[in-house]
Amino acid sequence: MNVMIIGGGGREHVIAECVSHNPRITKLYALPGNGGISKVAECVKISAEDIEGIVEFAKTHAIDFAIVAPDDPLALGAVDSLEAIGIKCFGPNQKAAIIESSKIFAKELMTKYNIPTAKYKIFTSVDEALSYAALSDCPIVIKADGLAKGKGVTVAENFKQARDAIMSCMKDKTFGKSGERILIEECLRGPEVTVLAFTDGKTIVPMISSMDHKRAYDSNKGPNTGGMGVVAPNFYYTPEIADECMKRIFIPTIEAMNHEGRTFKGCLYFGLMLTKEGPKVIEYNCRFGDPEAEAVLPLLESDLFDIMLAVCDERLDEVDVKFSNKSSCCVVIASNGYPSTYLTGYEIDFGDSESISGVHVFHSGTRREGEKYFTSGGRVLAVNAVGDDSVSAREKAYDAVSRIKFDGMRYRTDIGAC
Ligand code: AMP
Ligand code: GLY
Repeated sequence: MNVMIIGGGGREHVIAECVSHNPRITKLYALPGNGGISKVAECVKISAEDIEGIVEFAKTHAIDFAIVAPDDPLALGAVDSLEAIGIKCFGPNQKAAIIESSKIFAKELMTKYNIPTAKYKIFTSVDEALSYAALSDCPIVIKADGLAKGKGVTVAENFKQARDAIMSCMKDKTFGKSGERILIEECLRGPEVTVLAFTDGKTIVPMISSMDHKRAYDSNKGPNTGGMGVVAPNFYYTPEIADECMKRIFIPTIEAMNHEGRTFKGCLYFGLMLTKEGPKVIEYNCRFGDPEAEAVLPLLESDLFDIMLAVCDERLDEVDVKFSNKSSCCVVIASNGYPSTYLTGYEIDFGDSESISGVHVFHSGTRREGEKYFTSGGRVLAVNAVGDDSVSAREKAYDAVSRIKFDGMRYRTDIGAC
């Protein structure tokens, strides 16, 4: 089969590594891919958001199957356009991807189907949002409705921060149309858990739980990022909590989407907070998390491509999805300045980082020139280690990180320890 992966980050790199072992795949492409992905797939300079370009490429290269990994092409309807020309896909169609691309849709779904989440109010007027924020007890959470490259959420500790976030979304239009409508939410407290789940709309199979570290700096300080590191499994996610989430959140969500005529097929991301009143949904994403995928998929013992085919054909119930009982730790190395401005183009020296057993260095923002690799993004590498327990996974990951060098590299030193 000719297979293409849409996207070019660390998540797409781990997906490419996993599926590349499947004997059914004769040719693997990545659009646009990155330096690391080019070791296992042919990278093609077509942007993940260029849906017409992707469809044209699929036609001319006899693509049989597409894995659409990032949020933007899913929200833009890449799966619908590819399926319309007969190409099978892993990923939700546009109608189902709305679970991520509109936070207001997700909130209204949860309210309608009694799925636990934070209390909220929707605003389309700046003045009404400001008046409501002024009367609220802080902290409160301000969220742009649409996709905002992971930057549309502000946990405001005081009214000034809330006002700045509201003005930035609704008046300055920092996120364009995505910020025309906003949510103001109650601030929940408790440990955060990510659960990624395979689903074909009938069966749902949760993967190993994980914990992302979203803030830029140690001790959970600084601005929110796409994610600076992940451990899996998540220590707080006990089997009892997993049972409760299955009954009160996972199955109800799949059923709710079916009921709305928006059957979800692909990987559904549950961002949860374990509050004193029980687990609540913070957000849904319509895809694998990044860097959660780089920590969770190395623990998958079953074949990822076989699972993806089963999801697409709605026979997930026939597949045995097995995870190892080891632990995983993934440390993101970023360019200094990320998540705001940063410089790129520095050569990366990997040293002997990948000679450590259980270590994989996934590329997020890199470009390859011959046998050399250069930085090309904010998050540059996702260094993953699998160990017998969380301590050994963490030690190996940081040992590998210490062997990697490039100008302006920065990473958190407390992944899995805070
Ligand atoms: P999101 O982009 O929705 O995942 O939000 C980014 C981060 O903001 C989450 O990982 C949480 O740490 C935080 N957050 C979002 N919503 C809430 C909430 N209602 N209460 C507390 N923290 C929140
Ligand atoms: N790591 C968070 C996300 O993928 O949305």
